Amino acid sequence: MRDAAPTAPQPKYLADYAPPPVTVTHVDLHFRLDPLATRIRARLTCERREPGEMVLDGEQLKLISIAMDGAALDPSRYTLTDTALTLHDAPDRFILETEAEIAPETNKALEGLYMSGGMYCTQCEAEGFRRITWMLDRPDVMATYDVEIEADLPVRLSNGDEVAPGKWHDPWLKPTYLFALVAGNLVATSDRFTTVEGREVALNVWVRPGDEGRTGYALDALKRSMLWDERVYGRAYDLSVFNIVAVDDFNMGAMENKGLNIFNSRYVLASPETATDSDYANIERIVAHEYFHNWTGNRITCRDWFQLCLKEGLTVFRDQQFMQDERSAAVQRIGDVLTLRARQFREDAGPLAHPVRPESFVEINNFYTATVYEKGAEVIGMLRRLVGPEGYAAGCALYFERHDGEACTIEDWLDCFAEATGRDLSQFKLWYSQAGTPVVTVREDFKNGRYRIDLKQETPQTPDQPNKAPLVIPLAFGLLGRDGREIQATRIHALDTATDRLEFDLDEKPILSMLRGFSAPVILQHDQTDADRLILLAHDTDPFIRWEAGRMLSKSRLMAAVTDGAGFDAGWLDALHRLATDEAADPAFRALALALPSEDDLAGSLHAASVVPDPDRIHAARKSAQRAIADRLADDLPALRAAMAVPGPYDPRAADAGKRALGATLLRLQTLRDGGDAARAAYAAADNMTDRMAAFTCLLEARDTSVAAAFEQDWKHDRLVMDKWFMAQVAHADPSEAVAQAEALTQRADFDASNPNRFRAVLGGLSAGNPAGFHRADGAGYALLADWLITLDASNPQTAARMSAAFETWRRYDADRQTLMRAALERMRDAASSRDLREMTDRMLG
Ligand code: ARG
Ligand code: ZN
Repeated sequence: MRDAAPTAPQPKYLADYAPPPVTVTHVDLHFRLDPLATRIRARLTCERREPGEMVLDGEQLKLISIAMDGAALDPSRYTLTDTALTLHDAPDRFILETEAEIAPETNKALEGLYMSGGMYCTQCEAEGFRRITWMLDRPDVMATYDVEIEADLPVRLSNGDEVAPGKWHDPWLKPTYLFALVAGNLVATSDRFTTVEGREVALNVWVRPGDEGRTGYALDALKRSMLWDERVYGRAYDLSVFNIVAVDDFNMGAMENKGLNIFNSRYVLASPETATDSDYANIERIVAHEYFHNWTGNRITCRDWFQLCLKEGLTVFRDQQFMQDERSAAVQRIGDVLTLRARQFREDAGPLAHPVRPESFVEINNFYTATVYEKGAEVIGMLRRLVGPEGYAAGCALYFERHDGEACTIEDWLDCFAEATGRDLSQFKLWYSQAGTPVVTVREDFKNGRYRIDLKQETPQTPDQPNKAPLVIPLAFGLLGRDGREIQATRIHALDTATDRLEFDLDEKPILSMLRGFSAPVILQHDQTDADRLILLAHDTDPFIRWEAGRMLSKSRLMAAVTDGAGFDAGWLDALHRLATDEAADPAFRALALALPSEDDLAGSLHAASVVPDPDRIHAARKSAQRAIADRLADDLPALRAAMAVPGPYDPRAADAGKRALGATLLRLQTLRDGGDAARAAYAAADNMTDRMAAFTCLLEARDTSVAAAFEQDWKHDRLVMDKWFMAQVAHADPSEAVAQAEALTQRADFDASNPNRFRAVLGGLSAGNPAGFHRADGAGYALLADWLITLDASNPQTAARMSAAFETWRRYDADRQTLMRAALERMRDAASSRDLREMTDRMLG
């Protein structure tokens, strides 16, 4: 247990930033590992910069000894509390030596040094280092490190280069959050890479014995990432070894510790039998993301945690660029927009809305959000669009050159672009400070050969920000003729005032293709006719717009079906039929275009249109739409499915994955017609996990649960595969049964709540995977999640707080549901044992 929070915890403010009076330039660590009594001897080289006390962070540490410059430190010269070690009269230069004792085995918060599956590992970002030893645990204190690990274990890893077995030296300046240690009985899959600068690098992926057959894809992704960063950003790797370690118990996806990346095992381990296409894609993206941090995050880090987007937004943007280059750019962009809307727009529209660079926080772990990451990446994309690819490259080059080895701010970053391009970025900077998703309204008018586009931008109120100023919004647009021909190629208009007007002389009213490539993270309000959307869907030169036009057609049908019980018109069904059978189109694109807006997306859109969303009606409307599509496609389904068969051995790359994705979409439609016959056959024939999961989830939706037992029998030995089994049975249950299903699964012996992946599989399977089940009218879903989050919060505040965001939409719903959700939030707030969950519930209650 940690920081009991009886009263509201105190926030920290960006405006209060001050550098530490005394800093640390070198860190020497000696670990003697033991599950219940690990000893850490730290020797810190300290230097005074300004007058003042030196306050070192330290939590849950037992002090064994403390000395300064070789002599025991008199208790009158320091004060020790639960959270800090204060030195009252520190000299200008000195060596501080401490010895601490901790118990990694009992650390279930998974922050600091802990144990997972018999191995020792660490997670120090954001403020976990203070659970290892006393130190200035803040990113603006950058030091070199020497580390020695004493343990009777074959593999002992830390950052930097290994100078002797179990001894490591990291020559690069780094803050505490990038420190890592791993020790255990591990095996490596290895390879080599020669950098463009001629450096020989040993690459290793470390896993537990038995998992070594599943490391190949991560290693391949790593090599491609290294090449890409050299080629596209001119960034080369800077140590003689790069280690990746897979850990089963991990709060997040992965961590970019210098030279020693630690990953949630689900984002490393993959084989065709156990991992799906989307697992492979996630591995590729996350391996790249953590590798790219070596420059954007590690060589240049953040001055303070308010600047988190400096490394995260930029690194997400870079991993998205990488994925566009390695896979299909169009499909990648559409997927990224789907994620942004599903997570970030939702966040921006509720009580947890915050700027890309927040100005205050209680617990920084609560700000590893879609806004900091995904909207942060969109902001970089807009910057690139505004200054152009050359300007962007010049700004990046200046940033790397000027700030290498420093801890920086958003101002430092933007100054490089202003200087390299001569552009005034002061208005652009508002994207970092102003929360909320801007709404851009478009009105068209055509009269006497004059075509006018009237533009208006408005950003809604968000917590603590009642008034918003106009932003600079890069609007990429083009114009089509009624025959589908492009009459105006893509142009970028930077909308930087509340209203604006564009004018063209034309013979006929064109069709406006607005927000090509989703050129800005805004909500576009543009009443386009079905006829115009059909032309865009069939002819636009921009694949994002083609997809978006189809999605708008589908969304309008679904919203009408929810609100007035409207049926589905032949025009729309014909358009979907044309898409499904369009052999010229990429199967992955067709799968995306056939996918209907999610239940949560519809709930958010209805709410935005001042309609109270009814989760049951939304679920039913989506189901009947799927049935209507299945009926319309009935005659073509067998041939279409056959055309998506992928012969030969499994290949995770985009081409085959796209066929499997469309094949799965078609199987889902087929299942609605045959009650599961085709899915049963597909399950039996599946020779990879992608096809197997597709068939399994179709059968669960057809209420054929018999296959669940066989699945369990086949995979009960495999933790990652069983996570899928747990999640699928909740996410694909009938909404009326989802809560009972989730509850039953939590009673199983193999439901281990201390493993975040398993916990998320079941409880996230309910709150995110089965919205109509979660929002059951009697509140049973809310109660179950609240109970489990309160329980988890006592041992793992970070994951509990993160998952509590399932309640962020509570104000969308009807009075009865609002009362029930509010009650669940109040119960969590009152029972919170951590400041993490306390802050989240306080913010959601407003
Ligand atoms: N820096 C990591 C990444 O995005 C995320 C680590 C977050 N961990 C945390 N405890 N908040 O790659
Ligand atoms: Zn990151």
